[in-house]
Amino acid sequence: MKLNKNLIMLVSATSLVFGVVSLPSYADDVPYTVTNGNELDANSYNGFKLFRNWCARCHGTYGQGMVGPNLADSLKLISKEQYFATVENGKTGTIGSMPAWKANIEVMENSDKIYAYLKARSDGAIGVEKPKKAK
Ligand code: HEC
Repeated sequence: MKLNKNLIMLVSATSLVFGVVSLPSYADDVPYTVTNGNELDANSYNGFKLFRNWCARCHGTYGQGMVGPNLADSLKLISKEQYFATVENGKTGTIGSMPAWKANIEVMENSDKIYAYLKARSDGAIGVEKPKKAK
């Protein structure tokens, strides 16, 4: 009887530990979908187009870096909050200076889409290549 009780406690303690560890659902945090190697969901594809319009002249067409840093690398180091704050307020650092985007409504309203595209690049889900829009 005693042993049984201990066993039950051990089993529930173990499932509690694993339950807690597996709680954050990473699938929910992935803001993009890549299919067939280079086909993006509509949201992140839109993000790519906006990135190309507004950011590529400094960060490279696919975010691989130019006068501005490689953002696929940057997103491995900075948080999502830091990304949004940097886009909004700009940044002057050791590499150079980026203007603030807070006056640009198109960028500000869609910076989550740009983030989705850059996250796909950062995670290696899509490479330094021209994305297509998934059908
Ligand atoms: C005029 C050139 C220029 C443009 C256009 C530009 N950036 Fe930047 N950006 C920079 C430079 C230079 C830095 C590096 C500042 C530093 O740390 O020295 C930077 C830094 C950043 C960082 C921070 C990277 C890090 O590691 O901290 C993010 C995020 C970023 N840019 C996103 C964007 C996005 C998104 C756009 C388009 C909406 C954009 N940038 C447009 C020049 C630019």
